[in-house]
Amino acid sequence: MRVLLTGGAGYIGSHTAIALLARGHRVVVLDDLVNASEVALERAARIAGAEIPLVVGDAADVDLVRSVLREHRIDAVIHFAGLKAVGESVAEPLRYYGVNLGTAIGTLQAMAAEGVERFVFSSSATVYEQPGPLLREDAPVGIALENPYGRTKAMIESIVTDAAAADGRLQAALLRYFNPVGAHESGDIGEDPKGIPNNLMPYIAQVAAGERERLRVFGDDYDTPDGTGVRDYIHVVDLAEGHVAALEALAPGVLTVNLGTGQGATVLEVLRAFERAVGRELPFEVVDRRPGDAAVSTADPSRAHEVLGWRARRTLDDAVRDAWRWQSRNPRGYRG
Ligand code: WQD
Repeated sequence: MRVLLTGGAGYIGSHTAIALLARGHRVVVLDDLVNASEVALERAARIAGAEIPLVVGDAADVDLVRSVLREHRIDAVIHFAGLKAVGESVAEPLRYYGVNLGTAIGTLQAMAAEGVERFVFSSSATVYEQPGPLLREDAPVGIALENPYGRTKAMIESIVTDAAAADGRLQAALLRYFNPVGAHESGDIGEDPKGIPNNLMPYIAQVAAGERERLRVFGDDYDTPDGTGVRDYIHVVDLAEGHVAALEALAPGVLTVNLGTGQGATVLEVLRAFERAVGRELPFEVVDRRPGDAAVSTADPSRAHEVLGWRARRTLDDAVRDAWRWQSRNPRGYRG
């Protein structure tokens, strides 16, 4: 298929582009490059040995998206475009609602106008009202979530569901990511957070690289094996392959699927895995809990296996090894 990736120059999008091309699909990217670099796509194209045309622009611009859908004869859209920093969303809610809802609605309107019926949405485990172990897709989705970022993801899931109810031709998948980590094994593309990383893995990578003094562990008094938070860390290449599986399984209606491993790891276990990869101890200190954090959040991944024939195959050690290769070869990310 000819697939448009909105926000496709980002971390998940660039890895998904490689996975799509490896399966013989064609890829076009629309990205405003606010939170991404065209270097990621240049490298992804080199890894895949194929062209990845980039259109620089806003996915909320219906006329622009319509022209891209027409000119590139797009069959399907994977929608990554959006802002994703949880803390920032609390400080700037209007920007988050404007961008995240605007790009989703704009893209869906353009698709309806051009008769493009296949839509895969980058959702998140953040939508679950009550995080916990082995979360199933039928668990309650929150409205009173901790942050505007999570609320935009839940709202977009409802927008897609309503659009599919109104137009039976729409074939949609809502992919609820758990914690994406790692990088392509080449070390040429990876996670390139701007400023101080919010997420655990890139922060530890920067401690290992000497960019950050030490890891601050947000609480060790949770009801978990070592008292630190437990999350379901999924290798970004497994995640990318999950998008391809979802795209190829699309049918009329809406399919909601967790993309996770089903395995949990504590903060200290992730830190130890990184120490094994770099061959030395890494400094950390335990500080207060981060407001809004849950003790445990892991996926029940069984529906993805049943419906998509997909499961995560890479381990936490694989992800740490690949993240470290990316970090150590690209200490300044794509900024060279
Ligand atoms: C993981 C664990 C922290 C940083 C968020 C979003 C989610 C998704 C992934 C976009 C927790 C601990 C972290 C640090 C720490 N993003 N931690 N020190 O909060 O599970 O999920 O990112 O879709 O939507 O909610 O990920 O990596 O921030 O935290 O101790 O410096 O690491 O307390 O237990 P989280 P995270």
